[in-house]
Amino acid sequence: MTNFQVAIDGPASAGKSTIAKILATKLNYVYVDTGAMYRSITLAAKKAGISYNDEQKIRNLLSHTDIRFEPSAPVQRVFLNDVDVTDEIRSTEITNNVSIVAAFADVRSNLVSRQRDIADHNSVIMDGRDIGTTVLPNANVKIFLVASVEERAQRRYKENIAKGITTDLETLKQEIEARDYKDSHRKISPLTQAKDAILVDTTSQNIDQVVSQIANIITSKK
Ligand code: C5P
Repeated sequence: MTNFQVAIDGPASAGKSTIAKILATKLNYVYVDTGAMYRSITLAAKKAGISYNDEQKIRNLLSHTDIRFEPSAPVQRVFLNDVDVTDEIRSTEITNNVSIVAAFADVRSNLVSRQRDIADHNSVIMDGRDIGTTVLPNANVKIFLVASVEERAQRRYKENIAKGITTDLETLKQEIEARDYKDSHRKISPLTQAKDAILVDTTSQNIDQVVSQIANIITSKK
């Protein structure tokens, strides 16, 4: 394997993308936000007027759904068939329905092969739910990033406030728990810690501390 692969998995809102983006910039690796890919397919279904439960119609969408990332500080832009959907894929509706679409076998196999293709051509930091277990089982570094559900809801709450969105903390907590439950209980590639993944608990750590902890792990594996 010539390209270096870092897999970061974990439950919703554990800080995976924040940490992965910083590390990718530091190391000059490509950051692959696999959650954004599942969110984009979910949005494509919404735009086509397809029910999130309609596996057959969603399967038919896959072959004409192009998803492209464009590096752009501070947020990577996401394009769905050349339309910038960076903000739209983070809406509450998409967030609360993406786990239904992500459970379909054809959606997973299609996106996993796109993800592997990127990793075949670049050194990557890839975050998601099944990177260490399924997408890149031979990744050089595997991290399983966790934080208490209270802490994760608090972080999401503060992010929303910063964006001018008022949300109820308890509702956020319930939505995070519901998504984790669906992601950990689906049949194909459920969210689980790979046997050889290193557990990093970010509950009482700040971003710099987590970045430096993982950067040290990466350095030790080079
Ligand atoms: O990472 P993010 O929270 O944006 O992921 C959105 C959803 O996409 C997850 O809740 C999960 O249902 C799905 N997902 C997945 N496998 C991945 C990444 C995300 O099933 N590798």
